[in-house]
Amino acid sequence: MLNSADTDARTGGAALDRVVYSAQTIAARVAEMGREITAAYPEDEPVLVLGLLKGSFIFMADLVREIERPVTLDFLVAASYGAGTMTSGDVRLLYDAEATLEGQHVILVEDIVDSGTTINRLIPMLQARGPRSLEICALLHKHLAHDLVREPKWVGFDAPREFLIGYGLDHSENFRNLPFIGSLKAPE
Ligand code: IMP
Ligand code: MG
Repeated sequence: MLNSADTDARTGGAALDRVVYSAQTIAARVAEMGREITAAYPEDEPVLVLGLLKGSFIFMADLVREIERPVTLDFLVAASYGAGTMTSGDVRLLYDAEATLEGQHVILVEDIVDSGTTINRLIPMLQARGPRSLEICALLHKHLAHDLVREPKWVGFDAPREFLIGYGLDHSENFRNLPFIGSLKAPE
């Protein structure tokens, strides 16, 4: 367990409002998601897991170890946020996967679905590459977006509509290393 002194050491003593999902809660849910994903694909069919960096890196690492199917991995880097907590509405692809999607079962792994801009920009682009199937797995979903081109097939948690940090999620690149997910105190 993490005590408040440890938390301070990792946040620099800053701005944490509360722990929303503990490390134990996350681990249990990720293991469950791994079982759900495993059950969704035939035993001998490989799955390409595409992680959206940077936010999904810890989730992805934990999730793929819970999937009992042949898995290959690749990553995309998309940037939709500047330094703050507001979306710019613009998604730039900074790094594209090397893997060929054509004919493959593909799972796009997202840390959090917020405005849905990222999904709405990436899904048509990935679908155009002719995957055999294409699904989204999101650790967190704020259910703010009503115009998603595709709903995630797997969602870890229906998240509160607060700014969340930790377990890969950042605020201005900080807090990604927190083992739990917390919410940030609103600025005074
Ligand atoms: P969307 O395109 O608005 O759905 O947002 C997608 C990206 O914004 C996510 O992959 C995150 O990197 C970032 N994001 C959205 N909400 C949060 C949050 O509460 N905390 C940290 N990052 C967030
Ligand atoms: Mg981010």
